[in-house]
Amino acid sequence: MKQINIALLGFGTVGTGVYKLLLENSIDIEHREGLSICVKRILVRDIQKAARLQLADRSLFTLKIEDILDDPSISVVVECMGGVEPSRTYILSALSAKKSVVTANKEVISKHWHTFEQQARDSGAGLYIEATVGGGIPLLRTLTDSLQANNITRLMGIINGTTNFILTRMSEKGMSFEEALLEAQSRGYAEADPASDIEGFDATYKLSILSSLAFHTHIPVDAVYREGISSLSTSDFEAARQLGYEIKLLAIGKKAPGALVEVRVHPTMLPKTHPLAAIRGSYNAVFITGNAVGDIMLYGKGAGQLPTASSVVSDIIYACHNEGRHRHNTFRNIPDMDKDTHLVTDWESIYCIRTKVNDKPGVLSLISGVFAKHNVSLKSVLQFAQQDNSEGGQLAWITFVTHKAREKAVQSALREIDLLECTLEVESLIRVEE
Ligand code: NAP
Ligand code: HSE
Repeated sequence: MKQINIALLGFGTVGTGVYKLLLENSIDIEHREGLSICVKRILVRDIQKAARLQLADRSLFTLKIEDILDDPSISVVVECMGGVEPSRTYILSALSAKKSVVTANKEVISKHWHTFEQQARDSGAGLYIEATVGGGIPLLRTLTDSLQANNITRLMGIINGTTNFILTRMSEKGMSFEEALLEAQSRGYAEADPASDIEGFDATYKLSILSSLAFHTHIPVDAVYREGISSLSTSDFEAARQLGYEIKLLAIGKKAPGALVEVRVHPTMLPKTHPLAAIRGSYNAVFITGNAVGDIMLYGKGAGQLPTASSVVSDIIYACHNEGRHRHNTFRNIPDMDKDTHLVTDWESIYCIRTKVNDKPGVLSLISGVFAKHNVSLKSVLQFAQQDNSEGGQLAWITFVTHKAREKAVQSALREIDLLECTLEVESLIRVEE
């Protein structure tokens, strides 16, 4: 039996989940893996608060990182604090002290991956990040260890549990955004600052990690286009319902010949029959297309205490088994994108656009004319509502669904439509995947 001492940094949702899971399954892990994993230290900010949870012996808690970094008997450090600092400094210090690091912190990994990896290579320590994407779904190791024979051309998925939970509650129960967010927070899905979930940052961190591994080139987080869900309104859900769509926050990554890479996170309308439209609550799912395997979809709980602990503990076991022979990533260890990879910003999509106009004869043809001028072909036009305006005329909300069009052409058309006298507002633009 191999004895391993580990330390936890942070004892919140994920940290306590890891502690509980190691306790609950310790006999099975010993039996199956030949590993006895002992939590020797837990770094916290407030010992009283941690002790009140009555989960771990008070003597395990420390306020000093040195108690962990300077303890040669601790070989794996599990970072579950979140945020960039002091996580970045502690991870680097642990790696340079030859301790392997397991982390669920996608923000710090997506922003400082190359530095950590360089330090891990230099000291021979391991760096394990399965829980950074998809919570409990075995996603990253599936990409690196089971799909390595493929060239991956496409990823498309729901990779934020909080926003999927909110969108599901809003769409199915008519709950308000605020109520749904509060429930997601109470269930332990949301980030400490939930703006990270709602504004799409969390999903961009995850897509940066996922697409870097899938496309074998570093995709920096700032290369990922981002829109969150905070601007969605009940009118968007109503339009989606009438068109037979669900709205999901999708992360999309595509790689075309010539190393053309497109990476984006935004609300997306999906036909109700699309498998991703059926992903509800905090569940995540990712479609992966490989040139040999075809399409696969990985599905499971993308957030929450024990699902995330499942991935973290798996990483701890890997870190223990791989001592002295840790592996590193396939892409070159650089902070920027590989010079042979080109970022596509003028992608192709279908668009659902809602305009608020003064309803006068010729309005529809004026707007359609602008789309036509920019080579944006229309698939359908719907008028959802009407009401009197202050000048004795009528207001109308007209929704246009395009055929596949170029992003830049659509944006140029909308700028011009916005300037038309009849246009009061271009209220929303939601991309559609079919
Ligand atoms: P959390 O519940 O807020 O827990 C973080 C814990 O770290 C808190 O107890 C906090 O202490 C502690 N902490 C923060 N800074 C510290 C410091 N300088 N020294 C010592 N302790 C410190 O967050 P979480 O949900 O567990 O998330 C942790 C990480 O896992 C994040 O990177 C998150 O993105 C990632 N993650 C979370 C989930 C999920 O479902 N929750 C899933 C996958 C990945 P206080 O209690 O004093 O604030
Ligand atoms: N806040 C994240 C989410 C946690 O909701 O998906 C899992 O990474």
